Parts: sequence; structure tokens; C-alpha cells
Amino acid sequence: MELEGKVAIVTGAGRGIGEGIARVLAREGARVVVNNDRNGDDANRVVAAIGAAGGKAIAIRADISSRSEVEALVAQALAAFGAIDILVNNAGIEVPPSLVKDLPEAQWDRVLGVNLKGTFLCCQAVLPAMMAKRRGKIVNIASTAAKRMSFFGSADYTASKHGVIGLTQHLAWEVADHRINVNAVCPGGVLTPLLEQHTTPEFRDALTRRLVPLGRFCTIEEIGEVVSFLASSRADMITGQALAVDGGLLSGFGEDLRSVVRKRMEEARSAAAVPA
Ligand SMILES: NC(=O)c1ccc[n+]([C@@H]2O[C@H](COP(=O)([O-])OP(=O)(O)OC[C@H]3O[C@@H](n4cnc5c(N)ncnc54)[C@H](O)[C@@H]3O)[C@@H](O)[C@H]2O)c1
Repeated sequence: MELEGKVAIVTGAGRGIGEGIARVLAREGARVVVNNDRNGDDANRVVAAIGAAGGKAIAIRADISSRSEVEALVAQALAAFGAIDILVNNAGIEVPPSLVKDLPEAQWDRVLGVNLKGTFLCCQAVLPAMMAKRRGKIVNIASTAAKRMSFFGSADYTASKHGVIGLTQHLAWEVADHRINVNAVCPGGVLTPLLEQHTTPEFRDALTRRLVPLGRFCTIEEIGEVVSFLASSRADMITGQALAVDGGLLSGFGEDLRSVVRKRMEEARSAAAVPA
């Protein structure tokens, strides 16, 4: 268990990718603060599941777009566990998409307020504890939309995730001399309540066939495994990076094009072949 003795905060961990991350970090021995913005069963259910698997976790409610709530979250985590070694900025929102010409200013402010400002507020709030220990790992959950554009959301979402990469790179430089690593993970499609809410199975299938070389969506646990690695001492020399976990989405194309391109390559090879 490579995170034994560590304390981790995972924001937005009441369901979806955050839940997957919280479960994997707990399996690796970390004591986990399961944050969510809503009271109720979500975070408690994840805490119970971690407990049932032999791990240790507590639920703390906080809206990460509010400075006072983020400060209270960090204070409660420190009171409960005495340290914060790992911060995973996972909480994020995506609202029904619209074109920029129609995009309400209030929607822009809300999405940027959670996805980008919320990430900034949480980083800022944990830095004193990490700097005092001269060690820490911050992992920001961006998106493949941080490297190109969003397929599901609008420009607000794309801009917020590009901003997360900028914050990651800049902060990584600022805190390197305190031995704090700051990295981002860029998931491609991960089947979660957020994605199910905003897409149909037909849309997801068409997208996979066109875009994803490995031919499927990611699981929440697969994101958790990569975050766990970046949060461990095995990743001590990695900082300022944005790692895509996307089945090849950013580097290739899916099944629809594969056969066409392969056929063309094989034809070109045989046309060029020297007869025996
Ligand atoms: N699902 C995907 O395909 C996908 C792809 C790329 C990136 N992402 C990113 O991964 C992260 C998690 O996405 P998901 O698909 O699991 O979403 P989700 O909606 O299933 O879960 C998000 C969780 O965050 C919580 N949350 C939302 N706003 C919050 C706030 N202000 N404060 C605290 N908690 C808050 C929600 O209550 C929810 O529990 C997001 O940052 C998202 O942008 C998701």
C-alpha cells in the first residue's frame, strides 16, 4: 500500500470520477476526505464503501467555489487527520451547452467559478500545510477539453479546463522548491452521471467509433489508478505535466477510420513492392 500514512482530500467525490479516485487512494492506504457540495447520502455512501473495504474516510461538505467553505474544509480535514499530503481537485461542472453567441454571462461565471476558481481556492488553502511539511502532491482533474475543445460542453467548459492546465504549470514552478508536485490528469470520455446526463448512448457510441483508438470509455477506477500513481513517491520527479487518460483520443482516431487508413497503407506498400 504505497499511500500508507498519507492524508488526501478529494473534491467532488460523492460520485463519478471523484468516487473512483477516493476508493483507489483509500485502497492504497491513504486516509481520505470525501468532499462534496451537497449534504445527504452521496459522500456518506462513498465513506461507507471505503470503510467496508477496510479503508478510512470521512465526509466533509463544502462548495469549492466559496473561499470560506474551502477554508473550513481544510481546517476540518486538518483537525480530523492532522495533515494534508494529497489534494485532488476533481469537482467540476458542465451545464447544457450553448454557442458562444448565446452563452449567458451567468453560466460562464458559474462554470469558471467551480472548475477554475474552485481549483485555485483549494490549492491556495492547502499550500500552508504542505509548505510547512516541505512535501505534497496536488493532482488537478482537467480534461481532453484542456488540450483541444469539449465535445459535450461549451466554450466556458473548454476555457475553464485550459485554465486548469495553466494553473497546474505555473503553480508547479512556484512550489517546486517546497517539494510539492502539481500535475493534471486529462480524462477523455468517462461514463459518469455527468456524462450520462448530457449525452445519449448513440452520441457516445458515434464519438467512440470515430475518435477513440482503444474503442471504449474509461472507467472511474482507471482515472483513480493514474491519480494514485501521481500522488505517490513513484512520481516524485514528475511535475507541471498534463497526462491524458483517454484511450488515445488526443493522438489517433477510432475504428471508423482505422480500416480505411490501414487499407490505404497496405495498398501503398504493395504498389511500392519490388517484384521478386
Ligand atoms: N465524465 C467525463 O467524461 C469527464 C471527462 C473529462 C473530465 N471530467 C472532469 O472530471 C471531474 C469529475 O467529473 P464527473 O464526470 O465525475 O462528474 P459528476 O457530476 O459525476 O461528479 C462531480 C461531483 O462533483 C460535485 N461537485 C460539483 N460542484 C461542486 C462544488 N462546487 N463543490 C464541491 N463539489 C462539487 C458533484 O456534486 C458531484 O458529486 C470534473 O472536473 C469533470 O470536468 C469528466
